[in-house]
Amino acid sequence: MAKSPVRIAVTGAAGQIAYALIFRIASGALLGPDQPVILHLLDLPQMQGALGGVMMELEDCAFPLLAGMVATDDPKTAFKDIDIGFLVGARPRGKGMERKDLLGANAEIFTVQGRALNDAAKRDVRVLVVGNPANTNAYIAMKSAPDLSPDCFSAMIRLDHNRAASMLAAKAGVNVGDIEKLIIWGNHSPTMYPDWRFAEAGGRKLAELVGDEAWNRETFIPTIGKRGAAVIEARGASSAASAANAAIDQVRDWVVGSNGRWVSMAVASDGGYGVPEGIMFGVPVTASGGKVTRIRDLALDEFARSRFEITLNELKEERAAIAHLLK
Ligand code: NAD
Ligand code: LMR
Repeated sequence: MAKSPVRIAVTGAAGQIAYALIFRIASGALLGPDQPVILHLLDLPQMQGALGGVMMELEDCAFPLLAGMVATDDPKTAFKDIDIGFLVGARPRGKGMERKDLLGANAEIFTVQGRALNDAAKRDVRVLVVGNPANTNAYIAMKSAPDLSPDCFSAMIRLDHNRAASMLAAKAGVNVGDIEKLIIWGNHSPTMYPDWRFAEAGGRKLAELVGDEAWNRETFIPTIGKRGAAVIEARGASSAASAANAAIDQVRDWVVGSNGRWVSMAVASDGGYGVPEGIMFGVPVTASGGKVTRIRDLALDEFARSRFEITLNELKEERAAIAHLLK
């Protein structure tokens, strides 16, 4: 018997990332080749014309799995009965900006959308926040949706995970698909801590294969932290195709399953590793069926602990900066 369609909302649906995301969702790249989807596309009133063009293109693809689509500028309509939400719509940064400089422009979007999710979405909805600064925007959305479990929300740290895997694979001369147990801790910002201490390929530790701790500290960690800015510098616009790809990877692993592999996800802290409850912090997890299992009790040596504290402090500062929005 045919499966019933899954309702998926994409915000910022007329934007760059959405253009690389929506067509892959409709093709089956997210939920598999036998799962029909209905797309709920949200963008601002002035973008409805462009969004109409995106819908024309969706029709022209004749995707067998696309069972319907709705375009709207109203968050409650967009989130009505959805199973999955990609919260992409927000301003991107330009050259010379940090992602947290976007808090002023973007934070309010996530109070409004958090409330709309609270009122309209399915109770077991799974929401990925992509719009920057993603961790704190996800925290705002979660706090604005008190009737939904914090487990309904996550922020995208998968792009950093994929970037780190790719750079490590090239350095160690291994296939990127063989890399396991890589971790991105903390915030999607230059303070993030890409941690290779547990990473392995084919049963061998990558730190041993590379054998260069100075490279780890002076090249690998800062390059991953600044990769988003490097793309903006080169492209004149922030990453879009790789961001859409990471969004698919993170939500697919979350709702379909990571097959026991560790993946990095920013999820609401349950107090583990000393991170205050609720802060959206990148951690290693395995996932299946929309449920996340945190990898606990990994040792943090002195260097790891210092990196961990830097990114945690930044998230605490961001939380303080938006506290007034949650009153
Ligand atoms: P874009 O400017 O091309 O598109 C953004 C879209 O969002 C626009 O169509 C805009 O009209 C829409 N929008 C703005 N406010 C909205 C609202 N309140 N409701 C609905 N739609 C709204 O930007 P983009 O390149 O697609 O990037 C989107 C966001 O994703 C940016 O904040 C960017 O920094 C972020 N990003 C995050 C990651 C990550 O790893 N977390 C990676 C890349 C980009
Ligand atoms: C990225 O990491 O590419 C995105 O967060 C966009 C940005 O502003 O860096």
